Amino acid sequence: MRFRHAVVTGGAGFLGSHLCTALLDRGAAVTCIDDLSTADPRHVDHLRDRQGFSLIEADVCDPFDVARPADLVLHFASPASPADYLRLPIHTLETGSLGTRNALALARRHGARCVLASTSEVYGDPKEHPQNEEYWGHVNPVGPRSVYDEAKRFGEALTAAEAAVHGTDTGIVRLFNTYGPRMRGHDGRAVPTFVRQALDGEPLTVTGDGHQTRSLTYVDDTVRGVLAMAESDLRGPVNIGNPAEISMLDLAHLVIRLAGSDSTVRLIERPVDDPTVRCPDIALARGKLQWEPRVPPDEGLARTIAWYRERAAAAAR
Ligand SMILES: NC(=O)c1ccc[n+]([C@@H]2O[C@H](COP(=O)([O-])OP(=O)(O)OC[C@H]3O[C@@H](n4cnc5c(N)ncnc54)[C@H](O)[C@@H]3O)[C@@H](O)[C@H]2O)c1
Repeated sequence: MRFRHAVVTGGAGFLGSHLCTALLDRGAAVTCIDDLSTADPRHVDHLRDRQGFSLIEADVCDPFDVARPADLVLHFASPASPADYLRLPIHTLETGSLGTRNALALARRHGARCVLASTSEVYGDPKEHPQNEEYWGHVNPVGPRSVYDEAKRFGEALTAAEAAVHGTDTGIVRLFNTYGPRMRGHDGRAVPTFVRQALDGEPLTVTGDGHQTRSLTYVDDTVRGVLAMAESDLRGPVNIGNPAEISMLDLAHLVIRLAGSDSTVRLIERPVDDPTVRCPDIALARGKLQWEPRVPPDEGLARTIAWYRERAAAAAR
């Protein structure tokens, strides 16, 4: 890895904690900047004693700096689960706007590459399927989800302008739904919710008729894609996601089977502006980053279920 010191905003969150681990494993020092607003601080416990790791508790909406020269900034701070961004709408908009401005300014001062974590949500409820990077999206600018979708769209625009005006080395990854160990069980996203319900013997709550689809990428694959983007000189945006599309109903039944659970499925009301389909076209990532997902859903879900089981057993001891 060519980076010596990476700053990871949102590094105490789900994806951020995996990225910090991967960067340390590859020999980079890591400064994690996180206000812990949607983090479970236990998720960086395994990093606290590692050489080269430091955690600064700070809100990226306020300008921030690091003492040592940095050569990579991964801007991952942002509420990401609908439950979190609906609870923190202004914070989400400010993190996507002011936070992105401050992350880019840090990269500019240090001459570092800055990679923005954008999202498939910029495609909204898409009219094109699968979604490639040329598609502009179909987003309700004032619906409840807009605080997240539009914050990310603004963050992309600001990142593109930063590169054009200041020549800062920037990249944008559009991440599709990622799952794996260290998601908070009550963060409201489908995989941790289904796994928690299956392990507790509760009905799995599927919204609508369950035929809406998602693309699910195991966290190790997403981390590999983000680091490939960091190591490249691509500006993006580049989709990082799994083109194997799965309906929510099929996902619920798969989790029940893999967990060996007796749970049933209960249909509940579908959220406003919930996307009907989601599936990435990853030709760009395949061609330019030699990246594609490697972990099949059965394997990734089995690893995730095992992690939740171990954590529950440890808590009970
Ligand atoms: N997980 C996914 O499926 C997914 C998909 C698309 C995009 N993303 C993007 O990846 C990033 C990480 O997502 P995640 O799933 O790990 O979410 P997460 O909620 O687990 O982590 C986000 C982290 O950012 C921190 N944070 C939030 N606002 C902050 C602020 N103003 N200042 C400092 N820290 C702040 C939180 O405390 C948390 O630790 C987000 O930008 C998200 O939009 C994630």
